[in-house]
Amino acid sequence: MSILVTGGAGYIGSHTCVELLNAGQDIIILDNFSNSKEESLNRIRKITGKDFKFYKVDLLDKNGIENIFAENSIDSVIHFAGLKAVGESVSKPIEYYTNNISGSLNLFELMKKYNVKKLVFSSSATVYGDPKKVPITEDMPLSTTNPYGTTKLFIEQILKDLYVSDNSWAISILRYFNPIGAHESGLIGEDPQGIPNNLMPFISKVAIGKLEKLTVFGNDYNTHDGTGVRDYIHVVDLSKGHLKALEKLNKEQKGIFIHNLGTGTGYSVLDMINAFEKVNNIKINYVISSRRPGDIAACFADPTKAQMELNWKAEKNIEDMCRDSWNFEQKNPKGL
Ligand code: NAD
Ligand code: UD1
Repeated sequence: MSILVTGGAGYIGSHTCVELLNAGQDIIILDNFSNSKEESLNRIRKITGKDFKFYKVDLLDKNGIENIFAENSIDSVIHFAGLKAVGESVSKPIEYYTNNISGSLNLFELMKKYNVKKLVFSSSATVYGDPKKVPITEDMPLSTTNPYGTTKLFIEQILKDLYVSDNSWAISILRYFNPIGAHESGLIGEDPQGIPNNLMPFISKVAIGKLEKLTVFGNDYNTHDGTGVRDYIHVVDLSKGHLKALEKLNKEQKGIFIHNLGTGTGYSVLDMINAFEKVNNIKINYVISSRRPGDIAACFADPTKAQMELNWKAEKNIEDMCRDSWNFEQKNPKGL
């Protein structure tokens, strides 16, 4: 029996595939390489010394997905595939709704047809909108401020409705906070196309000299140093959370479960710059500018539920995250 991993060539998917293979699982990867490269599959093989089946299929291609279910004996699905750039989603809402929602619906329909009812879904802390308080618990109100976030919220709702219609499904919704870092080998990591939007890839590009300086978006927030506070989590810790979520589904056999995957600690933009400089012994040029529209002051998880119910806890610290991000950047200055 295999685990189908959609989006397995991507950032979080590739790290999760490494953990799955290392744990002795059989996996099948589906990806259309819209935001990743085939090389990441070679890197997964290199790290683990293991092989797996790969299908270059788009989730909008129902026949392509059906073919995978027909040819293989699949037990469960981890669904990473989706478009994820917040700013782009504002300018291309139709593409985001089509890719993320129609793609997911195609997948769920075929899972149903082939009686594969165990699913782990990649959601995001973005579904908490601008939270009234931090740390954020899973029962807090949900809202979104951009089409990307709305696709996550809609897919969560679709899964809740699916479970109501047929309670033999076992569904895990994981709400990630801010994944950063890379595998310690430096062979896989975040490989954004063009100028990065997110903080850590931007810092790495400044450190390597590809970008001149970092712009810190606002120092007048109500936080300890005025800059935005986030819950950065090492991608390897995050990936391990998926194995724990699958364990839970295998144990319970049915149910719908929602968990925050974060560390529970918030760091500011300046904390991140300082940590990166110190651990890697390198200077990061930055300037302070005005706030980025749509940004919030502070967002960090209460990860207690995942700890209690999944027996999962983030283990790596801010130094590990900064060191591993820089290691990946140095080893792959041109990306994968
Ligand atoms: P990523 O872009 O690196 O990986 C997504 C993968 O899905 C890519 O390899 C891409 O080619 C593939 N893909 C996209 N649309 C597809 C389609 N229609 N058919 C087949 N493949 C398709 O992103 P990531 O950072 O690894 O994120 C994985 C998931 O986690 C996404 O759903 C994302 O929204 C979610 N998430 C990410 C973050 C983050 O900060 N990275 C935070 C919260 C949630
Ligand atoms: C972004 C997404 C969010 C997604 C999350 C995790 C936006 C508006 N939101 O959130 O939906 O769930 O990533 O992937 O993109 N910063 C700078 N300078 C930069 C880049 C960032 O100062 O060049 C600051 C931001 O203002 C923020 C912090 O760094 O305070 C983190 O930013 P980022 O990495 O983009 O993540 P989020 O804003 O949390």
